[in-house]
Amino acid sequence: MGKPRAVDLFCGCGGLTSGLRQAGFWVRGGVDLDPVALECFKLNHPRTKVMLGDVGKLDAADIEREFGVQRGELDLLAGCPPCQGFSALTTLNYSRTVVDPRNQLVGHYLRLALSLRPKAILMENVPGLKHHAEFENLLGSLKRGGYHVTWALMDAKDFGVPQRRRRVIVMAGRGFTIDLPQEMGKVVSVREAIGNLPSAGTSGDPAHDHGESRSSRIRDLIGRIPVDGGSRVALGEETQLECHRRVDGFKDVFGRMAWDRPAPTITCGSMNPSKGRFLHPTENRSITLREAALLQSFPAGYKFKMNRGKYANARLVGNAIPPAFARVQGKSIRAALLSSS
Ligand SMILES: C[S@@+](CC[C@H](N)C(=O)[O-])C[C@H]1O[C@@H](n2cnc3c(N)ncnc32)[C@H](O)[C@@H]1O
Repeated sequence: MGKPRAVDLFCGCGGLTSGLRQAGFWVRGGVDLDPVALECFKLNHPRTKVMLGDVGKLDAADIEREFGVQRGELDLLAGCPPCQGFSALTTLNYSRTVVDPRNQLVGHYLRLALSLRPKAILMENVPGLKHHAEFENLLGSLKRGGYHVTWALMDAKDFGVPQRRRRVIVMAGRGFTIDLPQEMGKVVSVREAIGNLPSAGTSGDPAHDHGESRSSRIRDLIGRIPVDGGSRVALGEETQLECHRRVDGFKDVFGRMAWDRPAPTITCGSMNPSKGRFLHPTENRSITLREAALLQSFPAGYKFKMNRGKYANARLVGNAIPPAFARVQGKSIRAALLSSS
Protein backbone atom coordinates (compact mmCIF):
# COMPACT_ATOMS: atom_id res chain seq x y z
CA MET A 1 0.00 0.00 0.00
CA GLY A 2 1.37 3.48 -0.90
CA LYS A 3 0.65 6.50 1.24
CA PRO A 4 -3.01 6.49 2.28
CA ARG A 5 -4.90 9.53 0.96
CA ALA A 6 -6.80 11.92 3.20
CA VAL A 7 -9.03 14.97 2.86
CA ASP A 8 -9.23 17.53 5.70
CA LEU A 9 -12.57 19.36 6.07
CA PHE A 10 -12.50 22.62 8.11
CA CYS A 11 -8.71 22.48 7.72
CA GLY A 12 -7.91 25.85 9.38
CA CYS A 13 -4.19 26.65 9.43
CA GLY A 14 -3.31 22.95 9.18
CA GLY A 15 -2.85 21.44 12.65
CA LEU A 16 -4.72 18.26 11.73
CA THR A 17 -3.08 18.06 8.31
CA SER A 18 0.39 18.40 9.93
CA GLY A 19 -0.32 15.49 12.26
CA LEU A 20 -1.76 13.32 9.50
CA ARG A 21 1.25 14.00 7.31
CA GLN A 22 3.55 13.06 10.20
CA ALA A 23 1.58 9.80 10.51
CA GLY A 24 2.29 9.02 6.84
CA PHE A 25 -0.86 10.26 5.07
CA TRP A 26 -0.89 12.08 1.77
CA VAL A 27 -3.35 14.90 2.41
CA ARG A 28 -4.88 15.57 -1.00
CA GLY A 29 -6.96 18.58 -0.04
CA GLY A 30 -8.26 20.88 2.65
CA VAL A 31 -11.47 22.96 2.77
CA ASP A 32 -12.15 26.06 4.86
CA LEU A 33 -14.13 29.26 4.43
CA ASP A 34 -11.53 31.49 6.10
CA PRO A 35 -9.02 32.91 3.60
CA VAL A 36 -6.61 33.91 6.40
CA ALA A 37 -6.52 30.32 7.68
CA LEU A 38 -5.99 29.00 4.16
CA GLU A 39 -3.15 31.45 3.55
CA CYS A 40 -1.30 30.00 6.57
CA PHE A 41 -2.22 26.46 5.54
CA LYS A 42 -0.76 26.94 2.03
CA LEU A 43 2.43 28.46 3.41
CA ASN A 44 3.09 25.27 5.37
CA HIS A 45 1.54 22.61 3.10
CA PRO A 46 2.21 23.94 -0.42
CA ARG A 47 1.55 20.58 -2.11
CA THR A 48 -1.92 20.16 -0.62
CA LYS A 49 -4.72 21.65 -2.69
CA VAL A 50 -7.06 23.97 -0.80
CA MET A 51 -10.65 24.90 -1.52
CA LEU A 52 -12.10 28.15 -0.16
CA GLY A 53 -15.73 27.39 0.54
CA ASP A 54 -18.57 26.51 2.87
CA VAL A 55 -18.60 22.78 3.69
CA GLY A 56 -22.37 23.09 4.17
CA LYS A 57 -22.73 23.88 0.48
CA LEU A 58 -20.46 21.16 -0.90
CA ASP A 59 -21.43 17.74 -2.11
CA ALA A 60 -19.30 14.65 -2.64
CA ALA A 61 -18.86 15.42 -6.36
CA ASP A 62 -17.16 18.76 -5.51
CA ILE A 63 -14.62 16.96 -3.33
CA GLU A 64 -14.01 14.22 -5.91
CA ARG A 65 -13.45 16.79 -8.65
CA GLU A 66 -11.31 19.26 -6.67
CA PHE A 67 -9.04 16.73 -4.98
CA GLY A 68 -8.96 13.90 -7.51
CA VAL A 69 -10.42 11.30 -5.13
CA GLN A 70 -13.18 8.81 -5.82
CA ARG A 71 -16.24 7.71 -3.92
CA GLY A 72 -15.45 4.60 -1.90
CA GLU A 73 -11.69 4.90 -2.62
CA LEU A 74 -10.61 7.75 -0.34
CA ASP A 75 -8.70 6.32 2.66
CA LEU A 76 -9.57 8.96 5.25
CA LEU A 77 -12.05 11.78 5.59
CA ALA A 78 -10.86 13.87 8.55
CA GLY A 79 -12.26 17.02 10.04
CA CYS A 80 -12.98 19.20 12.99
CA PRO A 81 -16.23 21.12 12.54
CA PRO A 82 -16.29 24.42 14.49
CA CYS A 83 -17.10 23.72 18.11
CA GLN A 84 -18.16 27.02 19.68
CA GLY A 85 -21.85 26.01 19.76
CA PHE A 86 -21.04 22.90 21.83
CA SER A 87 -18.52 24.41 24.26
CA ALA A 88 -19.02 24.45 28.03
CA LEU A 89 -18.80 28.25 27.99
CA THR A 90 -21.53 28.71 25.39
CA THR A 91 -23.85 26.11 26.91
CA LEU A 92 -23.27 27.27 30.51
CA ASN A 93 -21.67 23.94 31.41
CA TYR A 94 -24.08 21.96 29.22
CA SER A 95 -27.16 23.24 31.11
CA ARG A 96 -28.77 24.57 27.94
CA THR A 97 -28.81 23.75 24.25
CA VAL A 98 -27.68 26.56 22.00
CA VAL A 99 -29.15 26.96 18.54
CA ASP A 100 -25.96 27.86 16.72
CA PRO A 101 -25.92 27.41 12.95
CA ARG A 102 -22.35 26.08 13.26
CA ASN A 103 -23.74 23.01 15.08
CA GLN A 104 -25.28 21.94 11.77
CA LEU A 105 -21.80 21.52 10.33
CA VAL A 106 -21.42 18.19 12.15
CA GLY A 107 -24.47 17.07 10.15
CA HIS A 108 -22.89 18.32 6.91
CA TYR A 109 -19.69 16.46 7.76
CA LEU A 110 -21.77 13.29 8.23
CA ARG A 111 -23.68 13.88 4.99
CA LEU A 112 -20.43 14.15 3.04
CA ALA A 113 -18.94 11.10 4.80
CA LEU A 114 -21.95 8.92 4.00
CA SER A 115 -21.94 10.00 0.40
CA LEU A 116 -18.15 9.84 -0.18
CA ARG A 117 -17.90 6.52 1.74
CA PRO A 118 -14.20 6.82 2.69
CA LYS A 119 -12.54 3.75 4.20
CA ALA A 120 -11.96 5.60 7.48
CA ILE A 121 -13.33 8.66 9.23
CA LEU A 122 -11.83 10.88 11.93
CA MET A 123 -13.67 13.66 13.70
CA GLU A 124 -12.55 15.78 16.65
CA ASN A 125 -14.65 18.13 18.76
CA VAL A 126 -15.05 19.67 22.22
CA PRO A 127 -16.39 17.41 25.01
CA GLY A 128 -19.74 19.24 24.87
CA LEU A 129 -20.61 17.51 21.61
CA LYS A 130 -21.44 14.39 23.66
CA HIS A 131 -24.39 16.17 25.24
CA HIS A 132 -25.88 17.14 21.91
CA ALA A 133 -28.38 15.24 19.75
CA GLU A 134 -25.98 15.66 16.81
CA PHE A 135 -23.61 13.22 18.50
CA GLU A 136 -26.07 10.33 18.81
CA ASN A 137 -27.15 10.97 15.24
CA LEU A 138 -23.53 10.88 14.05
CA LEU A 139 -22.73 7.58 15.79
CA GLY A 140 -26.02 5.90 14.81
CA SER A 141 -25.84 6.99 11.16
CA LEU A 142 -22.25 5.81 10.77
CA LYS A 143 -23.12 2.42 12.30
CA ARG A 144 -26.12 2.02 10.01
CA GLY A 145 -23.83 2.95 7.12
CA GLY A 146 -21.60 -0.09 7.84
CA TYR A 147 -18.90 1.67 9.88
CA HIS A 148 -17.37 0.32 13.09
CA VAL A 149 -17.29 3.34 15.37
CA THR A 150 -14.80 3.94 18.19
CA TRP A 151 -14.96 7.11 20.24
CA ALA A 152 -13.38 8.44 23.40
CA LEU A 153 -12.86 11.54 25.47
CA MET A 154 -9.09 12.09 25.37
CA ASP A 155 -6.72 14.64 26.83
CA ALA A 156 -3.95 15.78 24.49
CA LYS A 157 -1.52 15.90 27.45
CA ASP A 158 -1.60 12.07 27.55
CA PHE A 159 -0.41 11.90 23.94
CA GLY A 160 2.76 14.00 23.90
CA VAL A 161 1.22 17.48 23.73
CA PRO A 162 2.52 19.88 26.44
CA GLN A 163 -1.01 21.07 27.15
CA ARG A 164 -4.25 20.01 28.84
CA ARG A 165 -6.85 19.84 26.09
CA ARG A 166 -9.81 17.46 26.37
CA ARG A 167 -11.53 16.52 23.17
CA VAL A 168 -13.99 13.95 21.86
CA ILE A 169 -12.40 11.83 19.16
CA VAL A 170 -14.55 9.75 16.83
CA MET A 171 -12.88 7.21 14.53
CA ALA A 172 -14.74 4.89 12.20
CA GLY A 173 -13.62 2.13 9.81
CA ARG A 174 -15.77 0.85 6.94
CA GLY A 175 -16.15 -2.79 7.97
CA PHE A 176 -13.16 -2.75 10.35
CA THR A 177 -12.36 -1.47 13.83
CA ILE A 178 -9.80 1.24 14.61
CA ASP A 179 -8.12 0.81 18.00
CA LEU A 180 -7.77 3.82 20.25
CA PRO A 181 -4.16 5.05 20.54
CA GLN A 182 -2.24 4.14 23.71
CA GLU A 183 -1.46 6.93 26.18
CA MET A 184 2.25 7.80 26.29
CA GLY A 185 2.63 7.42 30.04
CA LYS A 186 4.73 10.58 30.27
CA VAL A 187 3.59 14.17 30.28
CA VAL A 188 5.55 16.86 28.39
CA SER A 189 6.04 20.05 30.41
CA VAL A 190 6.02 23.73 29.48
CA ARG A 191 9.77 23.77 30.20
CA GLU A 192 10.45 20.98 27.70
CA ALA A 193 8.38 22.76 25.06
CA ILE A 194 9.54 26.38 25.38
CA GLY A 195 12.30 26.47 28.02
CA ASN A 196 15.14 26.59 25.49
CA LEU A 197 13.83 29.36 23.24
CA PRO A 198 16.03 32.43 22.77
CA SER A 199 14.83 35.66 24.41
CA ALA A 200 11.61 37.03 22.96
CA GLY A 201 12.26 40.29 21.13
CA THR A 202 15.76 39.51 19.88
CA SER A 203 15.39 35.98 18.47
CA GLY A 204 15.05 36.85 14.78
CA ASP A 205 11.75 34.93 14.67
CA PRO A 206 8.89 37.39 14.02
CA ALA A 207 6.45 35.00 15.74
CA HIS A 208 8.55 35.34 18.91
CA ASP A 209 9.65 38.98 18.65
CA HIS A 210 6.29 40.75 18.19
CA GLY A 211 6.23 42.25 21.71
CA GLU A 212 3.19 43.61 23.50
CA SER A 213 1.91 46.92 24.69
CA ARG A 214 0.21 47.13 28.09
CA SER A 215 -0.75 50.01 30.35
CA SER A 216 1.58 50.67 33.29
CA ARG A 217 -1.19 49.42 35.64
CA ILE A 218 -1.37 46.04 33.89
CA ARG A 219 2.43 45.78 33.68
CA ASP A 220 2.59 46.41 37.39
CA LEU A 221 -0.04 43.70 38.05
CA ILE A 222 1.79 41.18 35.85
CA GLY A 223 5.08 41.90 37.63
CA ARG A 224 3.52 40.97 40.98
CA ILE A 225 2.08 37.59 39.97
CA PRO A 226 4.25 34.94 41.69
CA VAL A 227 6.55 33.15 39.23
CA ASP A 228 6.12 29.56 38.06
CA GLY A 229 2.39 28.85 38.28
CA GLY A 230 1.35 31.87 40.38
CA SER A 231 -2.11 33.34 40.29
CA ARG A 232 -3.55 36.83 40.80
CA VAL A 233 -5.60 35.35 43.65
CA ALA A 234 -2.34 35.19 45.67
CA LEU A 235 -2.17 39.00 45.63
CA GLY A 236 -5.20 39.41 47.89
CA GLU A 237 -8.36 41.35 47.16
CA GLU A 238 -6.94 44.84 47.63
CA THR A 239 -4.42 44.56 44.82
CA GLN A 240 -6.83 43.14 42.23
CA LEU A 241 -8.34 45.01 39.32
CA GLU A 242 -11.88 46.26 40.00
CA CYS A 243 -13.36 44.00 37.29
CA HIS A 244 -11.70 40.94 38.88
CA ARG A 245 -13.05 41.75 42.31
CA ARG A 246 -16.59 41.69 40.95
CA VAL A 247 -16.17 38.35 39.19
CA ASP A 248 -15.22 35.44 41.39
CA GLY A 249 -14.80 32.89 38.59
CA PHE A 250 -12.13 32.75 35.90
CA LYS A 251 -9.38 32.38 38.51
CA ASP A 252 -6.86 31.54 35.79
CA VAL A 253 -7.10 35.03 34.33
CA PHE A 254 -3.69 36.76 34.71
CA GLY A 255 -2.15 33.49 35.95
CA ARG A 256 1.31 32.24 35.05
CA MET A 257 2.04 28.87 33.49
CA ALA A 258 4.11 26.47 35.61
CA TRP A 259 7.43 25.25 34.19
CA ASP A 260 7.02 21.62 35.16
CA ARG A 261 3.38 21.08 34.25
CA PRO A 262 1.62 21.01 30.90
CA ALA A 263 0.12 24.33 29.76
CA PRO A 264 -3.60 25.05 30.12
CA THR A 265 -5.68 24.75 26.95
CA ILE A 266 -4.28 27.16 24.37
CA THR A 267 -7.31 29.09 23.14
CA CYS A 268 -7.72 31.80 20.50
CA GLY A 269 -7.06 34.32 23.32
CA SER A 270 -3.61 33.05 24.25
CA MET A 271 -1.89 36.39 23.47
CA ASN A 272 -4.00 38.07 26.12
CA PRO A 273 -3.48 37.44 29.88
CA SER A 274 -7.02 38.62 30.61
CA LYS A 275 -8.33 35.55 28.74
CA GLY A 276 -6.69 32.86 30.87
CA ARG A 277 -3.46 31.49 32.36
CA PHE A 278 -1.34 32.78 29.51
CA LEU A 279 1.53 34.56 31.28
CA HIS A 280 5.06 33.22 30.80
CA PRO A 281 6.26 31.22 33.86
CA THR A 282 8.95 33.74 34.81
CA GLU A 283 9.03 36.65 32.34
CA ASN A 284 6.63 39.55 32.77
CA ARG A 285 4.67 39.06 29.56
CA SER A 286 2.13 36.82 27.85
CA ILE A 287 3.43 33.88 25.90
CA THR A 288 4.42 34.73 22.35
CA LEU A 289 2.80 33.34 19.20
CA ARG A 290 5.77 30.96 18.76
CA GLU A 291 5.37 29.72 22.33
CA ALA A 292 1.63 29.19 21.80
CA ALA A 293 2.36 27.23 18.61
CA LEU A 294 4.97 25.06 20.36
CA LEU A 295 2.59 24.40 23.26
CA GLN A 296 0.11 23.26 20.59
CA SER A 297 2.92 20.94 19.33
CA PHE A 298 3.30 22.66 15.94
CA PRO A 299 6.73 22.04 14.38
CA ALA A 300 9.31 24.66 15.46
CA GLY A 301 9.49 26.16 11.98
CA TYR A 302 5.74 26.49 11.34
CA LYS A 303 5.24 29.67 9.33
CA PHE A 304 2.82 32.50 10.08
CA LYS A 305 1.96 35.60 8.08
CA MET A 306 2.88 38.16 10.71
CA ASN A 307 1.51 41.02 8.60
CA ARG A 308 -1.91 39.66 9.69
CA GLY A 309 -0.97 40.52 13.29
CA LYS A 310 -0.43 38.29 16.30
CA TYR A 311 -4.11 38.13 17.33
CA ALA A 312 -5.26 36.81 13.94
CA ASN A 313 -2.57 34.13 14.08
CA ALA A 314 -3.34 33.29 17.71
CA ARG A 315 -6.91 32.52 16.63
CA LEU A 316 -5.64 30.03 14.04
CA VAL A 317 -3.29 28.39 16.55
CA GLY A 318 -5.96 28.21 19.28
CA ASN A 319 -8.47 26.63 16.89
CA ALA A 320 -6.08 23.96 15.68
CA ILE A 321 -5.92 20.29 16.55
CA PRO A 322 -2.44 19.81 18.08
CA PRO A 323 -0.38 18.05 15.39
CA ALA A 324 1.10 15.55 17.90
CA PHE A 325 -2.44 14.61 18.98
CA ALA A 326 -3.55 14.16 15.36
CA ARG A 327 -0.40 12.15 14.63
CA VAL A 328 -1.22 9.42 17.18
CA GLN A 329 -4.77 9.17 15.88
CA GLY A 330 -3.47 9.07 12.32
CA LYS A 331 -1.09 6.26 13.24
CA SER A 332 -3.92 4.15 14.69
CA ILE A 333 -6.01 4.73 11.59
CA ARG A 334 -3.11 3.93 9.28
CA ALA A 335 -2.41 0.66 11.13
CA ALA A 336 -6.08 -0.34 10.88
CA LEU A 337 -6.18 0.53 7.15
CA LEU A 338 -3.08 -1.61 6.57
CA SER A 339 -4.38 -4.64 8.42
CA SER A 340 -7.81 -4.42 6.75
CA SER A 341 -6.45 -4.26 3.18
C1 LIG B 1 -11.76 24.04 14.92
S1 LIG B 1 -11.21 24.87 13.50
C2 LIG B 1 -10.36 23.60 12.63
C3 LIG B 1 -8.90 23.59 12.87
C4 LIG B 1 -8.10 22.68 11.96
N1 LIG B 1 -8.63 21.35 11.90
C5 LIG B 1 -6.65 22.62 12.44
O1 LIG B 1 -6.25 21.61 12.99
O2 LIG B 1 -5.93 23.62 12.26
C6 LIG B 1 -12.66 25.01 12.54
C7 LIG B 1 -12.46 25.65 11.18
O3 LIG B 1 -13.70 25.57 10.47
C8 LIG B 1 -13.77 26.69 9.60
N2 LIG B 1 -15.19 26.85 9.22
C9 LIG B 1 -16.21 27.35 9.94
N3 LIG B 1 -17.37 27.24 9.27
C10 LIG B 1 -17.08 26.65 8.09
C11 LIG B 1 -17.84 26.26 6.96
N4 LIG B 1 -19.16 26.46 6.93
N5 LIG B 1 -17.21 25.67 5.91
C12 LIG B 1 -15.86 25.50 5.93
N6 LIG B 1 -15.08 25.84 6.98
C13 LIG B 1 -15.68 26.40 8.04
C14 LIG B 1 -13.20 27.82 10.42
O4 LIG B 1 -12.75 28.85 9.56
C15 LIG B 1 -12.06 27.10 11.17
O5 LIG B 1 -10.85 27.24 10.47
